[in-house]
Amino acid sequence: MSESTGINFISRKFRISSQNSLVDWIGSFGTEDIGVDMGTSNTVLFVKHKGLVFPEASVIARNDLTKEYFAFGTKAEEMEGKTPSAVRIIRPLKQSVIVDYGGAAYLLNCIVNHSYLKGLLFHPRLIMCVPAGINGVQRRALLEAAVAIGARKTVLIDQPLAAMMGMGLGKHPKEGTMVVDLGGGSTKIAVLSKHGIIVSHFSTASGSEMDQAVLNTVREKYHILIGHKSAESLKIALGAMWDLKNGPQIAETSGMSIVSGLPVKIAVTGEDIAHAINPILYRIFKDIRDVLQRTPPALLQSIKENGIILIGGGAELRGIDELISRVIGVPAHVAERPSYVNAVGAGSALEYINEFRDSLQDLH
Ligand SMILES: Nc1ncnc2c1ncn2[C@@H]1O[C@H](COP(=O)(O)OP(=O)(O)OP(=O)(O)O)[C@@H](O)[C@H]1O
Ligand SMILES: [Mg+2]
Repeated sequence: MSESTGINFISRKFRISSQNSLVDWIGSFGTEDIGVDMGTSNTVLFVKHKGLVFPEASVIARNDLTKEYFAFGTKAEEMEGKTPSAVRIIRPLKQSVIVDYGGAAYLLNCIVNHSYLKGLLFHPRLIMCVPAGINGVQRRALLEAAVAIGARKTVLIDQPLAAMMGMGLGKHPKEGTMVVDLGGGSTKIAVLSKHGIIVSHFSTASGSEMDQAVLNTVREKYHILIGHKSAESLKIALGAMWDLKNGPQIAETSGMSIVSGLPVKIAVTGEDIAHAINPILYRIFKDIRDVLQRTPPALLQSIKENGIILIGGGAELRGIDELISRVIGVPAHVAERPSYVNAVGAGSALEYINEFRDSLQDLH
């Protein structure tokens, strides 16, 4: 097997074992294989032979009186702020790690079984993305969610490796590549070579932190309370740079006046948004610089040539690529369909699932 085949590229991480082969051979009949990217904001699936499943918000609704979960995904998210006090809207992941185990299992079960395959699926085999460097407890939490949905086999794949495969670079990895995943709950930075992940960094600077900062700025500057969704919409509309020539400089939102208690509409400027989110962006830039400093010099030149690849929903922040290029001095490019790259990569890795060691063995 040549050095540059995708399987070889990722097999180092997975310690391919032949002991599973019979089980895998039997297991590959009558099961569905699914790539899973479970994120703080969204869960995205890639079902083998079917492709991407429309992402669902990583949100569930629970009735505290009956102790039952009763809604998930975008439907549950839309209930936020509109439910009686006995109903709780829960995000089972915070800062990209599972904080509500039962909730995460319920969410995964619903998305895998109900939303797409209408309950027809039994004992799927999963390849699940995990942030690089995640601790053992968190890996276990993901595996337990997989067990709870009856997964027959589960393989954990480091997100940067999934991203490389998702971008079609797994089979032909360049000498040095930097991938920055700007997610809803965290930012993941990794440098990869054809031998795997060389340096990685995880930080809690995130899209939802930016939304909170926008919400705070609007409250302080205009004395108006807005919701998280409105804050996110302002961030998406106005982006990272208020001096961009193209696109709107001002966006309207509605909220509640702190002074009068009445509903009001206001126009928020791109400068307001930049003021709110810049401290978070600058933390990310500092982390990128730190990772570059920790990168072996032999890989730096190719990173400069290939540029920094931006993935995750936050990569769609208007002007982020230009800002990173300017501040870091290395060109940054937004990947195609940046929010789905990890799930597509986990989906591509399904081709090799028979050869991967079952991570569920680590639970025993
Ligand atoms: N066009 C856009 N402009 C700016 N931000 C965006 C845009 N589209 C999505 N986002 C942001 O991307 C984030 C969600 O990204 P993503 O789906 O990659 O996160 P996640 O995978 O669920 O989270 P994580 O990987 O951090 O656990 C949200 O904060 C959302 O506001
Ligand atoms: Mg993510």
